[in-house]
Amino acid sequence: QSEAHSDQLEAHELLAKFYHHLLLNTNEGQEALEYMYARGFTEEQLKTFRVGFALPSWDFSSELLKKRKFDLSSMEQAGLVIKRDDGSYFDRFRGRIMFPINNDRGQVVGFSGRVIHSTKDEPKYLNSPETPLFQKNKILFNYHRARGSIRREQSVVLFEGFADVISSNDFVGHGVATMGTSLSSQHIGMIKRLTNQVIICYDGDNAGIEAAYKAANEIVASGLTVKVSMIPNSLDPDDYIQKNGGKAFRQEVIDSSVSLMAFKMRYFRVGKNLQNEDGRIRYIQSVLTEITALSGAVEKEMYLKQLSDEFDLSIDSLKQQLTSISPPQM
Ligand code: CTP
Ligand code: MN
Ligand code: MN
Ligand code: MN
Ligand code: MN
Repeated sequence: QSEAHSDQLEAHELLAKFYHHLLLNTNEGQEALEYMYARGFTEEQLKTFRVGFALPSWDFSSELLKKRKFDLSSMEQAGLVIKRDDGSYFDRFRGRIMFPINNDRGQVVGFSGRVIHSTKDEPKYLNSPETPLFQKNKILFNYHRARGSIRREQSVVLFEGFADVISSNDFVGHGVATMGTSLSSQHIGMIKRLTNQVIICYDGDNAGIEAAYKAANEIVASGLTVKVSMIPNSLDPDDYIQKNGGKAFRQEVIDSSVSLMAFKMRYFRVGKNLQNEDGRIRYIQSVLTEITALSGAVEKEMYLKQLSDEFDLSIDSLKQQLTSISPPQM
């Protein structure tokens, strides 16, 4: 695979280098650089992740590639340029902050480009398309860099996005991101090679909480253990870090992640009004259903006790209710 596409790998490496240079050292990149600094990213972080800037030009990258004797139809297959009806080519990435994406061997195989100013008519992030080298369901952002930390920490932190991985990196070296897509079985396989403990740290908004619930079930089903970090006030990890710092993030969010059951007990509250009886009953029923799936007797007892305390119900009546529930399908 890499033999046949060695020119495409070379082109990605060349462009990553150029984009990075444009961001850090040129007038053309200054607005993008100021935006990144204003968001709180440090020069060191931008260098570590080789963040770059693609000029707002239709042909900067394609002309560069042509000058360096790359075959543009191969560059099109690599997702770097797009072919016009008249046979000429133009740049896919224009006027965006560029995040190089590496495969598990550390080779750049794709890019994601962020607009500086969000508008409604353009996607916030534009990604390389699916290509022979870049398949999103087989790539975790930062996997190759985090490998050592994942082994040392004996866990991996799973984020949604680039900004989360980069701004947490000083205190959380074992972070990777699915880049918005759902967690695939291949992603889980990649994780399994390094550790059996996953800490899910998705955004604190509703979409993030839903995605965490889904991912957590899939991870457990694959035989790994899972914990979930909960970020208050709908913030995402990067927002939290900009507000409270990386050290607080490590301590209060990552090192304070909770068991799957504790997460679910909070998750089931979403959209239920526990002030009224109907909401309370549906909540208790959801939690009991999860309790039937727990294997340890002590664990079961612990969560039953929690329910009994919170809703002022006897453990006996909860246990009686339990026996009428079949375990959840996962
Ligand atoms: N994403 C994407 N395409 C989009 C929006 C999001 O591929 N149009 C991916 C990106 O990898 C992004 C991740 O999904 O990092 C999470 O999305 P979101 O939370 O919306 O973005 P943030 O990472 O928070 O981006 P930022 O902080 O730069 O606004
Ligand atoms: Mn940041
Ligand atoms: Mn999000
Ligand atoms: Mn986010
Ligand atoms: Mn964000």
